[in-house]
Amino acid sequence: RSAVYYAEIIRNNGIPLPKEDGFLYGEFPKNFWWSVATAAYQIEGGWRADGKGLSIWDQFSHTPLKISNDDTGDVACDSYHKIEADVEMLKSLKVSHYRFSISWSRVLPDGTTRYINEMGLNYYERLIDALLAANIMPQVTLYHWDLPLALQNVGGWENDTIVQRFKEYAELLFQRLGDKVKFWITFNEPYNTAYCGYGVGTAAPGRAPYVVGHNLIKAHAEAWHLYNETYRAKQGGLISITINSDWAEPRNPYNQEDIDAARQYFFLGWFAHPIYKNGDYNEVMKTRIRDRSLAQGLSQSRLPEFTESEKQRIKGTYDYFGLNHYTTVLTYKINYPAEVFSGGLGVASVTDRSWLNSGSVWLKVTPFGFRKLLRWIKEEYNNPPIYVTENGVSERGDLNFNDTWRMHYYRSYINEALKAVVLDGVDLRGYTAWTLMDNFEWAVGFDEKFGFYHVNFTDPELQRRPKASARYYAQIINCNGFPD
Ligand code: NOJ
Repeated sequence: RSAVYYAEIIRNNGIPLPKEDGFLYGEFPKNFWWSVATAAYQIEGGWRADGKGLSIWDQFSHTPLKISNDDTGDVACDSYHKIEADVEMLKSLKVSHYRFSISWSRVLPDGTTRYINEMGLNYYERLIDALLAANIMPQVTLYHWDLPLALQNVGGWENDTIVQRFKEYAELLFQRLGDKVKFWITFNEPYNTAYCGYGVGTAAPGRAPYVVGHNLIKAHAEAWHLYNETYRAKQGGLISITINSDWAEPRNPYNQEDIDAARQYFFLGWFAHPIYKNGDYNEVMKTRIRDRSLAQGLSQSRLPEFTESEKQRIKGTYDYFGLNHYTTVLTYKINYPAEVFSGGLGVASVTDRSWLNSGSVWLKVTPFGFRKLLRWIKEEYNNPPIYVTENGVSERGDLNFNDTWRMHYYRSYINEALKAVVLDGVDLRGYTAWTLMDNFEWAVGFDEKFGFYHVNFTDPELQRRPKASARYYAQIINCNGFPD
């Protein structure tokens, strides 16, 4: 591979690489939040325990060939039965916060408030009490991809009655948990739900991802207004959304087309533009999808439109900017129609062969992009308070407790975040590592491991043991960064 790479350098008479900056010594602001994240389906197990209803991930993981090794989250880390063990790990990490998600179908088995599964709700009450007793504040995601199957059976996110269903679910959680939970995330990575969950939408009618995105944005806005108007005064918390994005760097920084492509890459704009800007999709998105729909012989754009009153209702429905970030890509313009994926709208991406790998094909170790993305969010969205709600790295293969490359990843990424704060004035309030322990990594099952803690999945006790990176993260937290 290095031979191929060298030939490429010769052919191009040099490859312009993004510059890495030096290391910055210093501390994060006082009261900076240090957190670590998980999600319900990835860790809980107990897939049918105590009256839990089925979710789309229960069904999907039980469909042959969908998941590596046909793994499922039936048991996963069995966190449903292991509150104490989980909280012990969190205490050792010394985090101030813990981000986890609620399984909608555990609380509302058929997705509606017609029947509340008190036993399921009680699991979250006990977890939250255990966290608070350990002086760890909960950060709760309402939706991390595990839609109740009963709602999928009536169209899922394509059916706009889901906006009301989501609002009712959110209200139940505000009522029952809101005295103790002061940080809510409506949706985790809506891009993933819309795009990965509902198809690429590049052929007619293929409207699904855009309809889904549309309903997600509306559901988010409804939950935000509900909290803002009815619960905020009493409960005094924050509520927003978590959007994922890579950083996009032009493949050739001297080529204007590549530079433009990088600016248009951000699939974050699909959701961020309506919520953080003017209540509507951005112009590039509207034009490209319309042009392509018409070229395909459709009579109208596949991107639905918001009414004026919907725009008013969506605009500004945030208390912070929630960001999941892992990696960087190099972008260039393409003339064939790739709409939203591959960075979307007429843009394709590659990575640089020399970038360090991880256990996931999509994840290259590229810390410099983190700072650039944070700065870009500051500039593009009017300097919102930002909480990084996920950042981390995976490994595959043999068990290795001495995960120095993970320590390197965190050291360099967190250092870029520090630069964003100290040198660029980004209003970053908190950082969350993904993830507490090895768990069910969606379509790749248990093959890709992101955890600070190793979980022995062959042991009936599912014992958790810290990797070296767990102690390293605790040390960064203890120092609140990298003091001189
Ligand atoms: C994003 C998702 O929110 C999380 O569920 C997933 O495990 C990580 N990224 C790593 O892929």
